Amino acid sequence: MTKPFKAGILGTGSALPEKKLTNAELESIVETSDEWIIKRTGIRERRILNDEVPLAKLASDAASKAISDAGLKPEDIDLIIAATLSPDYLTPSLSCSVQKEVGAVKAAAFDLNAACSGFIYALQVAQEFIRTGTYSKILVIAAEALSRVTDFTDRKTCVLFGDGAGAVVLGRVEDGTGIESAVMGAMGEGGSVLTLPCFFETETDRANRNEGKKQVIWMDGSEVFTFASRIMGEATGKVLEKAQVTMDEVKYVFPHQANIRILQNASKRLNVPMERIYTNLEFTGNISSASIPVCLDEAARKNMLKKGDKLVLVAFGGGLTYAAALLTWSK
Ligand code: UT7
Repeated sequence: MTKPFKAGILGTGSALPEKKLTNAELESIVETSDEWIIKRTGIRERRILNDEVPLAKLASDAASKAISDAGLKPEDIDLIIAATLSPDYLTPSLSCSVQKEVGAVKAAAFDLNAACSGFIYALQVAQEFIRTGTYSKILVIAAEALSRVTDFTDRKTCVLFGDGAGAVVLGRVEDGTGIESAVMGAMGEGGSVLTLPCFFETETDRANRNEGKKQVIWMDGSEVFTFASRIMGEATGKVLEKAQVTMDEVKYVFPHQANIRILQNASKRLNVPMERIYTNLEFTGNISSASIPVCLDEAARKNMLKKGDKLVLVAFGGGLTYAAALLTWSK
């Protein structure tokens, strides 16, 4: 059997809407306070996509930046995978709209939904196509317009979420760099603690939501908090063990950005100081699947990442789902 190809990140890109929604503005929408939001979540502001702009536009901006950062042309892309739970349409998929917008005319395209774990799920699916040699350049996008599925009468959720898009190009890399190990998992029995109905709803869904609200996120925040605090440590432990790498060798952890207190818990459980846990949620809020690729792109553009650096990506989310990956930076 021939040795599988190694997959790594060749380029990154991200795009955030210009419009900001601050805690002070939220104070005039629901009964909340800047002090409560900062203390309980760490979030100061989030970005909101204008009503007339499709998510596909934001996703395409991130995708084009990733393609050019990789030194490629759109027609070099073989496959596009878009992770999202808030697409413009169920069909055409977000990935097909991006294919058209960026001109990746040779690429196959499909969407994937693993909620906030979606980017790392998509990275692993893409990795398998690279390893087997089926494709050599894959655009992995994660993009969300959560403001469109947020109930702005529910203070327990509306202070948390924001909009944004991140993208990477995955391709063959030399040995000693790229994705070293990865895990993904699901616990469907816990799914009812975070829901976003689509074409169906139960009595419980109706009872949970404010009058007349259907396609909006509902969450039992403390249940998700408990799951997140446990699973981040477990998933990280698994990828480290699989690759025979210790936490001391890891330069940065890129966690899903949901709540600063979850990240502080992770810092204690993993015995990693907060300086090595990348955070930007103060200015973006929780952008679900997009949070990790937006962070990666920010860190890359700030020149924080050097070839050979070991990074852990770790996420949890609706489903319930979780995923982690250990990679050695290839650029
Ligand atoms: O991306 C994956 C999905 N999301 C997450 O990972 C989120 C995970 N969960 C969390 O981040 C936290 O559980 C929340 C931020 C959602 C909530 O924080 P908490 O400290 O767990 O608050 P709580 O739900 O236990 O509520 C405590 C109190 C309640 O008041 P009472 O019942 O004690 O009087 C809430 O009604 O805080 C109240 N509260 C608020 N007060 C002011 C809840 N939201 C707000 C708010 N402003 N926005």
